[in-house]
Amino acid sequence: METISRTNTEALPKYGESIIEISSLCKSFGDNYVLNQFNLTVRRGENVVVLGKSGCGKSVLIKCVVGLLKYEEGSLQVFGKEINSLKQKELDEMRARIGFVFQSSALYDSMTVRQNLEFALRRHGKGKTKQEVDQLVEEMLDNVSLANAINLMPSELSGGMRKRIGLARSLILKPELMLYDEPTTGLDPITAEEISNMMLAMQHKYNTSSIIISHDMHCARLTANRLAVMIDGINYAEGTFEELSKMNDPKVNAFFKKQ
Ligand SMILES: Nc1ncnc2c1ncn2[C@@H]1O[C@H](COP(=O)(O)OP(=O)(O)OP(=O)(O)O)[C@@H](O)[C@H]1O
Ligand SMILES: [Mg+2]
Repeated sequence: METISRTNTEALPKYGESIIEISSLCKSFGDNYVLNQFNLTVRRGENVVVLGKSGCGKSVLIKCVVGLLKYEEGSLQVFGKEINSLKQKELDEMRARIGFVFQSSALYDSMTVRQNLEFALRRHGKGKTKQEVDQLVEEMLDNVSLANAINLMPSELSGGMRKRIGLARSLILKPELMLYDEPTTGLDPITAEEISNMMLAMQHKYNTSSIIISHDMHCARLTANRLAVMIDGINYAEGTFEELSKMNDPKVNAFFKKQ
């Protein structure tokens, strides 16, 4: 089994252009200022982990990235386009390039595993033959080691299996950008590590860029090329796992205490 000391910084891919460029982003709900001048850049092929206390605005941040929430001020560019200014059709085209793993796996309960995976392809991957669809579904289930679950219903899956199917469903369109919201929360340490390793494998196989939101420091350590610590609506500190864990700042140290 992998040891806890490995970090993703040892296998730095060659990063390309900026995929996400966030500057001075502000998002509030009434007088709750959730994002307050938040900055972050994610480059092609890079995994960026966002750390932050519960309720600080991590899910709000990635919902802004996919245009599920509108921001009030600042700039948020994905693939070079300002999200707030996109028309619905342009937003749909952009979302076809983005995989979103929700905090809950959000599988369709009335569909089998196969149908859950096909659904994404039918919506965005038009023009594929039945054979191509079958092949892609099998490839993705193979990636998450669940080829034999193809005809099961979500109710017949364990929590960890649901997470893996959620991952396979998000990856089936081979997205350039993945957004993971708490991909390992609620899983036992061994399954959590399996999921983290799958995320790493996908990064290397498809050169995907990712934002990974996680409270799981082991997952963060394994998957992050870089981490950002969100505190009071800003990107308070940024660096590799090693750099942040050695930082002389009590607010940042709090996240690394158990390491
Ligand atoms: N649609 C909404 N309407 C009003 N307030 C919202 C909405 N979505 C989020 N919020 C508020 O924004 C803040 C940040 O929420 P968010 O879900 O981003 O937290 P989080 O950092 O993801 O927390 P957790 O780690 O618990 O998932 C919270 O105060 C929450 O109440
Ligand atoms: Mg959240």
